[in-house]
Amino acid sequence: MRRLAVLTLLVVAVPVTAEPNAAERGEKALTTTAFIPAFWTPRAVDSAWKQWGVAAKPADYDAALRDRYGLHPAPYPNDGLPMGLRKARHLFGTGVGADCMMCHGGSVMGTSYVGLGNASLDIQGLFEDLARADGIAKTLPFTFSQVRGTNEADGFGVYLLGFRNPDLSMKPSWTNLGLRDDTCADVPAWWLLKKKRTMYATGATDSRSVRSLMQFMMHPLNGPADFTKHELAFRDVQAYLLSLTPPKYPFPIDAAKADAGRAVFAEHCARCHGTYGATPTYPNRIVPLAEIGTDPVRHRSVNEAYAAAYTASWFGKEPAGWFVDGKLLRWTPGYQAPPLDGVWATAPYLHNGSVPTLAGVLNSKARPNLFTRSFRTGVDDYDRDQVGWKVTELAAPPGADVPPVERRKVYDTTRSGRSNAGHTFGDDLTDAERRAVIEYLKTL
Ligand code: HEC
Ligand code: HEC
Repeated sequence: MRRLAVLTLLVVAVPVTAEPNAAERGEKALTTTAFIPAFWTPRAVDSAWKQWGVAAKPADYDAALRDRYGLHPAPYPNDGLPMGLRKARHLFGTGVGADCMMCHGGSVMGTSYVGLGNASLDIQGLFEDLARADGIAKTLPFTFSQVRGTNEADGFGVYLLGFRNPDLSMKPSWTNLGLRDDTCADVPAWWLLKKKRTMYATGATDSRSVRSLMQFMMHPLNGPADFTKHELAFRDVQAYLLSLTPPKYPFPIDAAKADAGRAVFAEHCARCHGTYGATPTYPNRIVPLAEIGTDPVRHRSVNEAYAAAYTASWFGKEPAGWFVDGKLLRWTPGYQAPPLDGVWATAPYLHNGSVPTLAGVLNSKARPNLFTRSFRTGVDDYDRDQVGWKVTELAAPPGADVPPVERRKVYDTTRSGRSNAGHTFGDDLTDAERRAVIEYLKTL
């Protein structure tokens, strides 16, 4: 008996001592490495409240800081910092920087998930306030975000590549590769990547690309050697992203209704979004702009100058021939229909986050046009009826006297890049059919 127990112990112990696999190494790299130097001193985080117009430091400061900027508790050890911020080397010792999870670490039902897009983040306020808290009053070099929960991630790539030679050494002057501030990106969930052959909203990049994941490393203090040094780690990071799975819908699902929804989905949606279950299929369809009809700005935001510079650079020197035209970044006719796994958790919807609920995705006439929300992620903030975030519709856009931090909480679909038009494929369904499809979507 005793011997058996010892044997069992040994068997159980094996996986612990075994070499970690690529995904495990990737998770560790992603949650422990500072791939870019710090932006701020630790003091900046402690004194950010002085930018909030309050008389004293709020009592539960960690929670107040997260709430103010839309950050979430880290579900891994992170030196007491919220997910997305990270200890990193600074010109003057150790400071605080940002990492992938600032945008790619989200929360729903009050639970943090690595890989869920952060739909609460006020990246503009965060960067402005922390710089000011460090005594640097400069405005940001370009707009990081116009609306809370969305960001100008494409602008980051365009802006930063403008400083680089093809080998990623710094250029003496900046080239404008078509920077704009209205692409209004809603961050996609990482767990969808495993199904995709192409990635990003327009499907412009081969999803096997590892170097594309490293664009965020173009901090001015990172030179060519830093990129080559971390490429292997990013291969592991990619393996980790490919291992992620979506959280399950946490409330009861009406099985009969969901079953009816499966049939409607098969008829009206599957040709673009694929099928689910034991043997899933995913067609990886890129739907022409004229057919999808959603906001066109993101589609035209990556122009030829940027594509040429990117292709000529280190980023574009991964195995050739991945795309028919031999490029790693290519023009596509529209937007990629994403897989819908875990879609209940990824509100707001469409590439620009212009539709707060699934009910709105399925009925273009019922979408709110001017709205705000709490940007919190608790059970009370989640709309179980419409499936997505609860919003408050507004009668008029904020006036000129409203401070920027409050303006960014308002989504105005009449602004450039923020249209909520298009994707009308659910409009002709009956209310009962739409309800059934939504019930089915909860099961994915
Ligand atoms: C400033 C916010 C931000 C940061 C920081 C950021 N990303 Fe992203 N990421 C985005 C946005 C927004 C998109 C969608 C862009 C688009 O398609 O237009 C995206 C897209 C992606 C995609 C493609 C997903 C898909 O299915 O199309 C991957 C993979 C990815 N990011 C990985 C990373 C990694 C790894 C890091 C850190 C090294 C990182 N990102 C840092 C905002 C960010
Ligand atoms: C002709 C192809 C096509 C059909 C048919 C179609 N969709 Fe889509 N769907 C897309 C594309 C493309 C997008 C991305 C559009 C964008 O972001 O601008 C999308 C986006 C979505 C999204 C938002 C995903 C996200 O994370 O933002 C949901 C949900 C969705 N579709 C559900 C459905 C359902 C349900 C049906 C059937 C009633 C359906 N779609 C029919 C192409 C299609």
